Amino acid sequence: MNPLRRFLPYAGKQKKLYLLGFAGSLFRFLIPLSVPLVIKYLFDHLLRSETMSRSDKMDQLFLIAGLMIAVFFAVRAPMEYVRQYFMNKANNRIITALRQDVFAKVHALDAKYFADNRSGEIGTRFFDDVEKIRGYMTAIFSNVWIETIVLLFVTGIMFSLNPVLTLLAVLLVAIQFTLAHFLSRRVKSTTRQMMGYRSVLSGFVFERIQGASLSKLFQSEKRDSEQLDRHLERFERMTDKQAGTHAVSLAAVNMLSDITPFLVVAAGSLFVIDGRLSLGSLIAFFAYVDRMRAPVAALVQAIPVIAEGSVALQSVFDFLATPVSVKEKEQPAALDRLSDSILFDRVAFSYDGKERVLHDMSFLLRKGGTYAFVGESGGGKSTVLQLLTRMYDVDAGRVLMDGRDIRDYSLASLRSQIGIVTQDNFLYSSSVRDNIAMAKPDAAEEDIIEAARKAFAHDFIRTLPDGYGTEVGERGVKLSGGQKQRIALARVFLKDPSLILLDEATSALDNESEELVQSSIERIRKGKTIVMIAHRLSTVVHADRIFVVRKGTIVESGSHEELLQMEGYYWELYTKQNSAGIAAAGLETTDCAAEQVKAG
Ligand SMILES: Nc1ncnc2c1ncn2[C@@H]1O[C@H](COP(=O)(O)OP(=O)(O)O)[C@@H](O)[C@H]1O
Ligand SMILES: [Mg+2]
Repeated sequence: MNPLRRFLPYAGKQKKLYLLGFAGSLFRFLIPLSVPLVIKYLFDHLLRSETMSRSDKMDQLFLIAGLMIAVFFAVRAPMEYVRQYFMNKANNRIITALRQDVFAKVHALDAKYFADNRSGEIGTRFFDDVEKIRGYMTAIFSNVWIETIVLLFVTGIMFSLNPVLTLLAVLLVAIQFTLAHFLSRRVKSTTRQMMGYRSVLSGFVFERIQGASLSKLFQSEKRDSEQLDRHLERFERMTDKQAGTHAVSLAAVNMLSDITPFLVVAAGSLFVIDGRLSLGSLIAFFAYVDRMRAPVAALVQAIPVIAEGSVALQSVFDFLATPVSVKEKEQPAALDRLSDSILFDRVAFSYDGKERVLHDMSFLLRKGGTYAFVGESGGGKSTVLQLLTRMYDVDAGRVLMDGRDIRDYSLASLRSQIGIVTQDNFLYSSSVRDNIAMAKPDAAEEDIIEAARKAFAHDFIRTLPDGYGTEVGERGVKLSGGQKQRIALARVFLKDPSLILLDEATSALDNESEELVQSSIERIRKGKTIVMIAHRLSTVVHADRIFVVRKGTIVESGSHEELLQMEGYYWELYTKQNSAGIAAAGLETTDCAAEQVKAG
C-alpha cells in the first residue's frame, strides 16, 4: 500500500495545526507579492506625474511607505511565526506518534524477528527514518501547495500586465521544472540505495559497539575497522553518487532560473521601445519573474526531500506491518495457575521453515514435579522452552497446559505463570532493585529483599556501593556471572510463578557460585513445576523424570536409576562425564586432565 495513504491518519489528527500553519503561510507569502505592484504605481504614477505638486508627492510617498511598513510588521512577521510554530508543532506530534508506534511494534514482534534482524536497523527506523519524515511533511502538507499558489498568483498578476511576456516566462519556467522532474527520478533511485545501505551500516556499528570488549579479547579490532572501512567506502560512493545526481539537477535548473529574468526583460524592452508597455510595468514584471525563482527553486528542492521522506516512510510502515506469527486469539482464555499438567503432543518445529529442529516430541509434565532435559548440545532442549513460553509456535502437534492448547491462552497470562533463568540473563542498566522488581515494579522493599535472600543475593547486594540502588551497568557488566544469576533468580522468586524454567542456569558458574545457585534452586522448587536443562548430569540426578534429547526428539526417559539401567545414550553420557571427573580428581595438576574435563 502507498505509504502516504497509511500516513494520512497520522496527519489527519493534526489537521487543525496544519490548517493554522497553512493560513499563516498564505499571508506570509502573498503579502510580499504586493511589492512589485506598489513599485509600478510609484514609477508610473507618482514619480512621473506632471500634475502632482512636490509636497503632494511627498505626502503620498510617506503614506504608502507607512502602510507597507505597517503591513509587514503587523501581519507579515506574526504570520511567519504562526506558520513556523504550528507546522513544527504538528510535525513534532506526528514524529512522536510514529516513534511510539515503532516502539510498540518492537514489543509486538516475536522472537523470530530479532533472530533474523539486527537491532541497529530498528534504531534506524526509530531515529533517522522518522526524522527524515519531518522535511517530507513540511513539503507535502504546506510548502508544495503554498509555492504552487504563489506561482499561480504571480503568473496571474503578470498576465494582467502583459500576456505575451507571461507566456514566455511560463514557458521558460516549465522547461526548468520538467528538467528538474526528469532528473529527480535518478535522484530518487540513488537516494533509496543510499538509505537502504545506511541501515546496514548502522546495524553493523551498533553490533560492534555491543561487542566492543569481545573485539578487544579476540584482537579483531583491525578486522572490524577494515570491515567498517569497506562499509564506509561503499556508503561514501553511494552518497557521492546521490550528491552527483542532485548536483547535476541543481546545475541545470539553476542556470535556467538565473537567465530567465534577463531573457524576459530583454523581450519586455522590445515592448517598451514600441511604447506598448510602461516602464513601471516592466520593472514590476522583472520583479515578478524574480519572484518566480523562489517557489520554483523550492519546488525543485522539495523533490529530493519528498523522495527521501517517502523512502523513509515506506521503511517505517514496512516495519510496522511486519507480520507477527505468534498471535493471540480474539478472545483468549486466562491461565490462572498451572494446576494440572503440561503436555507436548507430537510437536514438530523448525526455525526457518526448512530444517526440522524438533520432531515427534512428546512428553508429559505433572504439576509440582521436577523435570530435566539433557543431551547433546544443539539437540533442541532450549527450543522446547522457546515453545513453552510461546516465543515461537509449533509447526505441527500441540502444546497443552492444563489440557488446553497454549495458543488459547492470552500471552500475558501464560507468561505470567512462567519464570525463566538462563545461562546469560539480561539485566537492564538500572539499579539492582529495578532489575529484581521487573515482574512487579510496585513490589514493597521487604518483598524485594526477601526474594534476594532466598536467591542468596542479599549478602552480596548489601556490600555493593549503593546496596539495592547500585547501578549494574549496561547488561549488568558490573556484576559477576554468579551475581547476575542470583539476581535473575531473585526476579523469579519475586514473580512467584507456578512454572520455572532453568536453562543451563548454573553451567557458566564457578563451583562456589554454582553451589549457591543450586541451593537457591532447591528453595524455589517447593510447590512449583520445574523444568531444568542441564549440561552437567550430576545436577539432575534427583529429578523426577529425565528426558534425553537427541536430534530434536526424546530418545530415552525415566529416573536417573532407570536410565542408567538401560545402558543407553544417557548411560554413555553419564559414564563419560564421570570418568572425566574421576580423572580430573586424580590428576588435578596435569594439563591432560584439564583437557579431559573440558571434553566432558
Ligand atoms: N533462533 C534460531 N534460528 C534458527 N536456528 C536456531 C535458532 N535457535 C536455535 N537454532 C538451531 O536449533 C537447533 C537446536 O537448538 P537448541 O534448542 O538451542 O539446542 P540445545 O539447547 O539442545 O543446545 C540447533 O541446531 C540450533 O542451531
Ligand atoms: Mg540450549
